[in-house]
Amino acid sequence: MLSHIKDLAAKLAPRLIEIRRHIHSHPELSGQEYQTAAYVAGVMSSCGLQVQELVGKTGVVAEMHGTGADSRMLAIRADMDALPIHERTGLEFASRNQGIMHACGHDVHTTVGLGAAMILAQLGVPLPGTVRFLFQPAEETAQGASWMVRDGVMAGVTSIFSVHAFPTIAAGSVGIRYGALTAAADDLELIVIGESGHGARPHEAIDAIWIASQIITTLQQAISRTQNPLRPVVLTIGQIQGGRAPNIIADQVRMLGTVRSLHPETSAALPEWIEQIVSSICQTYGAKYELNYRRGVPSVQNDPTLTQIVESAASEAWGSDRVQILLEPSLGAEDFALYLDHAPGTMFRLGVASADKPNFPLHHPQFQVDEAAIITGAVTMAYAAYKYWHP
Ligand code: NI
Repeated sequence: MLSHIKDLAAKLAPRLIEIRRHIHSHPELSGQEYQTAAYVAGVMSSCGLQVQELVGKTGVVAEMHGTGADSRMLAIRADMDALPIHERTGLEFASRNQGIMHACGHDVHTTVGLGAAMILAQLGVPLPGTVRFLFQPAEETAQGASWMVRDGVMAGVTSIFSVHAFPTIAAGSVGIRYGALTAAADDLELIVIGESGHGARPHEAIDAIWIASQIITTLQQAISRTQNPLRPVVLTIGQIQGGRAPNIIADQVRMLGTVRSLHPETSAALPEWIEQIVSSICQTYGAKYELNYRRGVPSVQNDPTLTQIVESAASEAWGSDRVQILLEPSLGAEDFALYLDHAPGTMFRLGVASADKPNFPLHHPQFQVDEAAIITGAVTMAYAAYKYWHP
């Protein structure tokens, strides 16, 4: 079956590169992926799949039904949005949409999803269960997955696979990560409310600036003394506002921050942990506070069994020397995590680095991929889907 899949992929390669270049040259911002979605829907329809458009705002869902011998459903998810970056690659198929660029490889992810669908549709042997392809909008703004989930795309899904381009792994190789792949990213807003007074008479006032500084210092120290150092937490207060004049004690300080963590139990406990510190300091010095802790996306936790399926699919397809087991997660965020609240899943890293050109990081105006990665991704995804039912 593997050699059949690889043969199909080799035949499809010119078409997949054409598809990727089309998507690359017509990038659209998060939540505005109308043309991309219509194009994706057209390709999926031509594979003979049932296609639903405008799911999760501008998303596309397509289903491939198998024999029905197995009731499980596997979802394969790709993101379609681009970034507000002015492309400077000089490629002949560079962005035609001024100031918008596929600089995070989502054009490759979409093509890998389409390629996997084309391969599976041409296998000649139906799979025992259903594959549901999810092409989501607005990953960059961490909104698309929640829109898709709200429109019910995870109903009936047993497991989910996804992929992200990785510019520090050579094209032709993949990266596999067991456990945490990306971090939970939450937002914090804290308002400390004191009482104004004369700068010379602090005992008659409640100094919100001084109390805010106590809170910041204590939070940073408490992370190092009360959080498990093997379960990293990063808390950054990135914005602070308060006070009106040098000789008036400030009655209010507003702080905004981001909170990153990797371990789900740690993430779950952070809002209460932060509030305890804030409330005890405020209480000690007579201040009041408002704390708004807004959950962003959780950490992507790759399921061990599904990760093993992808790892063995990739090892068989490309040799184990082209499969890197990633020892470290990233503190970036990825809204794939929101699907994992509904079914276990795994995301693999797709090497896109070129051997003969300089490689730039994701979100860089000169970011480029080695297009050989598209076949690596499509075969790995299609064969992993096959192995999901044929372990
Ligand atoms: Ni991305």
